[in-house]
Amino acid sequence: MLTIALPKGRLGDKVYSLFAKIGYDCREMLEDNRKLVFTSEQNGVRYLLVKPSDVAIYVEHGAADIGVVGKDVLLESEPDLYELLDLKLGSCHLAVAAKNGYVEDEESVLRVATKYPHVAQSYYESLNRQIEIIKLNGSIELAPILGLSDVIVDIVETGTTLKENNLFVMQKIVPSSARLVANKSSYKFKGAMIDRITALLKGEIAND
Ligand code: PRP
Repeated sequence: MLTIALPKGRLGDKVYSLFAKIGYDCREMLEDNRKLVFTSEQNGVRYLLVKPSDVAIYVEHGAADIGVVGKDVLLESEPDLYELLDLKLGSCHLAVAAKNGYVEDEESVLRVATKYPHVAQSYYESLNRQIEIIKLNGSIELAPILGLSDVIVDIVETGTTLKENNLFVMQKIVPSSARLVANKSSYKFKGAMIDRITALLKGEIAND
């Protein structure tokens, strides 16, 4: 049996539809329940529903054989796993944003609020810019509004959250989208099944 970690939330729905299109659906997952593990005997797979930022942890440690995770998460945590395929879902950017009208004072240390401290640090290091990281876990857009930070480094998908909070994109750092990933030893022992699913997904993406 192959264990697949899928992200809960807005990316999760798109990923579920993609797996359903290649014949790897699991009706029970569409029901209104609080279950986190779903088994599809006919496909020989078990799905785990986990927080998007935890998918890579399940896969890296072998609790799941494969999973779907945002490139943003991979860039932040740099897990030791195989990145097999860009699923072209949940496309967004990691970007620097600030309050409308904000002008950077290049003489002072820049205060950066983010869920992505590693990405932010690397980005500003590449610019030789001194920063102070303020690590938050959500609603990052509040930080510059309240003066907790000068800027934020966060994902921007539609741009609606920034717009509705009077913020703007100052710089795009890197694009992101959902990736199919595999545990390294699972790939050694269950490679045929993983390759089959990867090929089916690749074909489906090409048809879209
Ligand atoms: C993410 C991100 C932004 C928003 C961007 O937050 O942190 O707040 O989505 O999307 P948009 O450009 O389409 O508006 P998420 O919904 O994951 O919640 P969070 O604030 O708890 O991180």
